[in-house]
Amino acid sequence: MTDRRFLNFPAGFLWGAATSHFQVEGHPEEMSARTSDWSEWTTLDGKISDQTTADQACDFYNRYASDIEICRKLNLNCFRISLNWPALCPDPPKEGEPYTFNAETVAYYRGMLSGLKAEGITTLVTLFHFTLPRWLAGAGGWTSPDSIKEFERFAALAADAFGDLVDYWITINEPLAYAYQSYVNGAWPPGFRNDYLKAFQAIRNMLEAHGKAYAALHQRTPGKPVSFTMHWRPFTAKHRWNPLDHMVRYYRDYVFNLMFPLAVQKGDLQFPYPLSSNEEVKKLSGPIPGLKGTMDYLAINYYTRELSEFSYKWPIDIFGVASTEHELEVNCMGWEHFPDGLYNTLSYDVSPFKYNLDGTLRPIIITENGFATAFSHDLNEGDWSLADDKRINYLTSHLTALHHAIADGANVQGYIYWSLMDNFEWAEGLRPRFGLIRIAYPSQERTMRHSAMVYADIAKRNGLDDP
Ligand code: BGC
Repeated sequence: MTDRRFLNFPAGFLWGAATSHFQVEGHPEEMSARTSDWSEWTTLDGKISDQTTADQACDFYNRYASDIEICRKLNLNCFRISLNWPALCPDPPKEGEPYTFNAETVAYYRGMLSGLKAEGITTLVTLFHFTLPRWLAGAGGWTSPDSIKEFERFAALAADAFGDLVDYWITINEPLAYAYQSYVNGAWPPGFRNDYLKAFQAIRNMLEAHGKAYAALHQRTPGKPVSFTMHWRPFTAKHRWNPLDHMVRYYRDYVFNLMFPLAVQKGDLQFPYPLSSNEEVKKLSGPIPGLKGTMDYLAINYYTRELSEFSYKWPIDIFGVASTEHELEVNCMGWEHFPDGLYNTLSYDVSPFKYNLDGTLRPIIITENGFATAFSHDLNEGDWSLADDKRINYLTSHLTALHHAIADGANVQGYIYWSLMDNFEWAEGLRPRFGLIRIAYPSQERTMRHSAMVYADIAKRNGLDDP
């Protein structure tokens, strides 16, 4: 028998799991009064592929104490959540009146975050994870300049209400994934299709809002690192011999991966040519005061790569299309299993962001990475899906790639699996299951999958046997 090499992670490495409010909470006031764009969206015909809603989701709002107990059992030393902006701010501000958060929702978050801190768990808290208060969505959401001042106000109130219980702030989750789904793909509210100008306007406003929130958070909670997450997706030319596919690959990579963090790094938003020559796009580009360097750590959500193809509708369809054919094994979302992409992202692709403005090495945290299988929402207790070898393989292969990247110099300080438990996967509903913990939705029973036990062991030993 040969001895397997042990892949030891750096001392103090963060081992965590992630959730987001809308996907798990089932917040009672939000759902009964439909205070968010998303809670309303799920009631519209044809928006959610399995016709489910997030009205109950994992009932995390009522069950967080026992779910924190699960985190402890899994030996996790960190947990990522997001704040429910629509439930904290269900009503619009009134001219001349002081604005405060909804008191019950504050009590809920303080209870949950205190529970995590009592277990010695490091907390990462996201301010915007895809859902908007309905009053703000109605006023144009992220395409309206109001979004900037409202987000700044929200960040300041969040710092005052929860700052003592937060270790890392994340202002905005996956700005490009959001802009794409909401203004190009039309799958998320407000459901615009191919409206690139709206998507770019939202990006510009998100950058300004991030810069302002960064300052507000630093002022109120000095020393707490602040960043945003990027859904980092390596793009590969579908036909390696075709220069047009390579051109598409370049555009998709620049716009989806690089444009936002480059704007933050430089304090200046720039679009690639020939987009940059469009008069309307030009108006959105240029310096953003207060933005430069507002990235205390690099937060990467990594799942898969995408094969890019030229579209003959160019330049109308300047980003080409994503190939629907695959070269590697896929999960139920059609996402290829490509751990090398994580290594490449960390070792090469993020190199423009390796250093802070003062020349120090910028920390990196993997804020999401995970694998989904499809099971109907009405399945109840039983042994279905508990033996999840494919998830174990996904997890260990990505951790191996991560370990190699660290050994080759990537300054990665934590890994956060998506997700602690099965939850509401946006337009795909309750069917895709990303959880380490299985949720039987009818009874809300929680059961550890085999992967949860494997991950608990990895977190305990701070590493894994080289698979
Ligand atoms: C998002 C999550 C989502 C996950 C899987 C990320 O894009 O932050 O909300 O559930 O990926 O699709």
